[in-house]
Amino acid sequence: MLSWDEFDKEDGAETAASTTTATVNDMSLDKLNQVGGNAALEARAVDANDSDAVARAKASLNDLDIQEGLDDLAGTSARVHVGDKQMINARADLNQLVPFKYDWAWQKYLDGCANHWMPQEVNMNADIALWKSNDGLSEDERRIVMRNLGFFSTADSLVANNLVLAVYRLITNPECRQYILRQAFEEAIHTHAYQYCIESLGMDEGEIFNMYHEIPSVAKKASWGLKYTRSISDPKFETGTPETDRQFLRNLIAYYCVLEGIFFYCGFTQILSMGRRNKMTGTAEQFQYILRDESMHLNFGIDVINQIKIENPSLWDAQMKDEATQMILQGTQLEIEYARDTMPRGVLGMNAAMMEDYLKFIANRRLSQIGLKEEYPGTTNPFPWMSEIMDLKKEKNFFETRVIEYQTGGALSWD
Ligand SMILES: [Fe+2]
Ligand SMILES: [Fe+2]
Repeated sequence: MLSWDEFDKEDGAETAASTTTATVNDMSLDKLNQVGGNAALEARAVDANDSDAVARAKASLNDLDIQEGLDDLAGTSARVHVGDKQMINARADLNQLVPFKYDWAWQKYLDGCANHWMPQEVNMNADIALWKSNDGLSEDERRIVMRNLGFFSTADSLVANNLVLAVYRLITNPECRQYILRQAFEEAIHTHAYQYCIESLGMDEGEIFNMYHEIPSVAKKASWGLKYTRSISDPKFETGTPETDRQFLRNLIAYYCVLEGIFFYCGFTQILSMGRRNKMTGTAEQFQYILRDESMHLNFGIDVINQIKIENPSLWDAQMKDEATQMILQGTQLEIEYARDTMPRGVLGMNAAMMEDYLKFIANRRLSQIGLKEEYPGTTNPFPWMSEIMDLKKEKNFFETRVIEYQTGGALSWD
């Protein structure tokens, strides 16, 4: 068996490289020798069976400077105390999940996992028959299905991209990041669900997936959201100044309060109303599970926004409050326009005026949830059944179909 010395003698280039990095090697070997170092060195010894590639991989680890690697981690690498944790601009090590500071975030992660579902579990046969029949649905009902699949099929990708490319990096708290990873997967499931509906119903995929370019009431909502992603998705964007912290806060309000908190509500209400009337029940069931996930995303976002306000009270000044109010009101207005476009006449026991009331009721809730004044006083909820659906538990399915209970590791075998 070759020893390290013999290996170095045999390979002049390796010897030269090792000499130039001798200091680094000494440092990392010193550290390795402290705990388990001899075991690592023994395992790393090159033997006759090792190919040149394996031998080079082993040798290159002698240049591994442990300290240099740790220095690259975001935050300090010291042990974490709860008091060091913050929602933004934290210095605490982001790879140490516990101790928790925000128990609510961890609980939401657990609740999200407990609500796991997949689109293929939902039976779409009745929808396919109804969609393909000539007289099963009115033109207005078909318009609602098409527009909503058009909007949602791309909206969840916008949310997912914003989450993964912008929000995740800037939230400096590991338990919240854990929930964001769960949310990101749920957004993938939602896009999957819309795609599954579009495919099952045999729709023109190009037409549906391009509505956010081609149909004005859909395009306006998408571009309103994208504006807020653009400002923070630059990889060089960092929080840490009052202006950049506010920019990030605006993004969170745009996505959690407006996109997920207002832009989804006209479509959800329309499709679920269809399901209540025993039409497109498979599509409605998909939307029902999505709505349950979305109400948790929304509540998580509200908690994050409020926590940032608590930790950085100077950010939440009169100007920022006015901006946040304006954003929610603009979103409400765009959703009212979407309601009119999707419901030119009364349909499914509802009409655009009732939807306008409902959206104002929702907007009041979003405003008060982040501590702002309600702007539509005296508005009441014309669709109280929506709240019942949002609180749905998996075992009490609204449409009384079965949902698989997930079992951890049930399909694994060690053979
Ligand atoms: Fe979603
Ligand atoms: Fe969502």
